[in-house]
Amino acid sequence: MTAGVPEARRVALDVLRRIEDDGAYANLALRPALDRSGLSDPDRHFVTDLVYGTTRMRRACDALVDRFVTAPPDPRTRRLLRLGAYQLVFGGVAPHAAVSETVGLAPKRVRGFVNAVLRKVAATEMVWPSDAARLSYPDWIVDTLVTELGEIDAHDALERMNVPPVVTTRDDGYVQDASSQWVAAAVEPTGGERILDACAAPGGKATALAHGGADVVATDIRAGRVGLVVDNAARVGVGLSAVVADAAAPPFAPASFDAVLIDAPCSGLGALRRRADARWRIEPADVERLAVVQRRIIDASGALVRPGGRLVYSVCTLTAAESIDHPVPDGFEVDDREPLVGTWRRFAHGWRVLPHDADTDGMVLIRYRRRS
Ligand SMILES: C[S@@+](CC[C@H](N)C(=O)[O-])C[C@H]1O[C@@H](n2cnc3c(N)ncnc32)[C@H](O)[C@@H]1O
Repeated sequence: MTAGVPEARRVALDVLRRIEDDGAYANLALRPALDRSGLSDPDRHFVTDLVYGTTRMRRACDALVDRFVTAPPDPRTRRLLRLGAYQLVFGGVAPHAAVSETVGLAPKRVRGFVNAVLRKVAATEMVWPSDAARLSYPDWIVDTLVTELGEIDAHDALERMNVPPVVTTRDDGYVQDASSQWVAAAVEPTGGERILDACAAPGGKATALAHGGADVVATDIRAGRVGLVVDNAARVGVGLSAVVADAAAPPFAPASFDAVLIDAPCSGLGALRRRADARWRIEPADVERLAVVQRRIIDASGALVRPGGRLVYSVCTLTAAESIDHPVPDGFEVDDREPLVGTWRRFAHGWRVLPHDADTDGMVLIRYRRRS
């Protein structure tokens, strides 16, 4: 154990407080806290694992602890118990260190209590009250995925999304999940084509398309995020035009693009391993709201595809409501050829990647061709 470890747990506990009490986004709260901390790289990794792991496994940690508490602990004590339970059961920390170092962060009045509960957590085999508690997701996410994928694939996907993502780096240095690279490849860009990436920020797919020599226009509704596209294009050395625009009311002439990619805003249920706190934020109503937005974008941006051109729709979620339930847009037919690159499973008239198939994010892809 290095000298920074007690401090590491203190930093982690403070970031967890910001996430749980202030509603801060995990990644946005963590980064400045690490920068201020002066911790070594290994300790920063430890803090990152504690914060993301405790956040992902929040429900499971509570279930582990709740066997041994009779009244709900106050939020601060609850946080300490979660942090301790995470280290003991999921974090691979030696039991003695997990208990004593966590107790060391507790205010005097609850030290004995935290110590007693964590020792029991360490010593007592768990019988999980439900799969949702074991996997540490809200019931509705587990129920939805079990209904749509079947129990085995749903549980495998949910388990995989409890593991931090693999870092994949393109030849140009851009860090991008493999499944996103497969979506860009499925646009099948060729040199000289005019291609619109309608929901482009931060520019992962737009820059991949531009590498192929296409004339890429990248739009996003959020001006600040369009800035990220510009920065990322400059960093990887590709030219593209970046424009602030609403893909539901795009400022381009009808039929003016050879291909349009809609990498739509979505619930992200296939990419939950990327955002530790996302599962506790998303609600079923968000899926319904996003499905409406997606349909508007498909209708408006689809009209920009020239006759014979391609419309490619993708979302980093797994369910029908945000993908295959959308009607085939007027004037288009489905192009259901299997994409050349990637681990895709057929999903009605589209294709789906499950997170555990190739250790990537989960995605759905649907390709259409505009009739001449
Ligand atoms: C899944 S992300 C896109 C990721 C990007 N394609 C990449 O590969 O880096 C969805 C993006 O859609 C943007 N967005 C949301 N609503 C939009 C709209 N009505 N028009 C254009 N962009 C929108 C969001 O700001 C977000 O950047």
